[in-house]
Amino acid sequence: MKTAIYPGSFDPVTNGHLDIIKRAAKMFDKVVVVVLINPLKSYSFTIPERCEFLKKATAEIPNIEIDSYDGLLADYFNIRQDIDVIVKGLRATSDFEYEFQMAHTNKDLNHRAETVFIPASLNTTFVSSSMVKQVAMFDGDLKNYVPACIHEQIRSKLTSDFAEAKRKAAAADGSLRKGQ
Ligand code: PNS
Repeated sequence: MKTAIYPGSFDPVTNGHLDIIKRAAKMFDKVVVVVLINPLKSYSFTIPERCEFLKKATAEIPNIEIDSYDGLLADYFNIRQDIDVIVKGLRATSDFEYEFQMAHTNKDLNHRAETVFIPASLNTTFVSSSMVKQVAMFDGDLKNYVPACIHEQIRSKLTSDFAEAKRKAAAADGSLRKGQ
């Protein structure tokens, strides 16, 4: 039995991630999708929220497990002796340098941790979580970017967070009048 791990921030999961998950699920007996933390990034959704989105988005795929881990991927890989390989999606050459660095760092930290890359499908090469968040903040149409079952949760959190951030900024620079 071959098991792959698909790690990421998934803040939130996009149709691009889902494309990689579905294709990996055909190649491996099991795919463990694990929500990890990049300590240099700031996130819009909590880890439980990101896991819930992933669970909803992959509900129809039988050989998927969703997990999260607060630590190094190499250490998670070590704990989970059932996992054989890391799967990463590559959208464009711009992803390559960073992913190449991560693959070698993970292998250096844990010699068992080999990475294989799956090229993103053409219709998702431009989709990223940060682009999705911008569209959602302005209440734009998410249908081509994010699974439909999680549109409303993403839209409602990001539009209200954005409204609150704008209100705070306006209050701080004095452009907000009393009562607004
Ligand atoms: O979706 P992202 O943000 O590109 O995912 C990056 C992520 C979270 C997979 C990466 O930052 C990660 O593996 N974080 C866990 C900590 C770690 O192992 N970092 C060193 C790998 S170079």
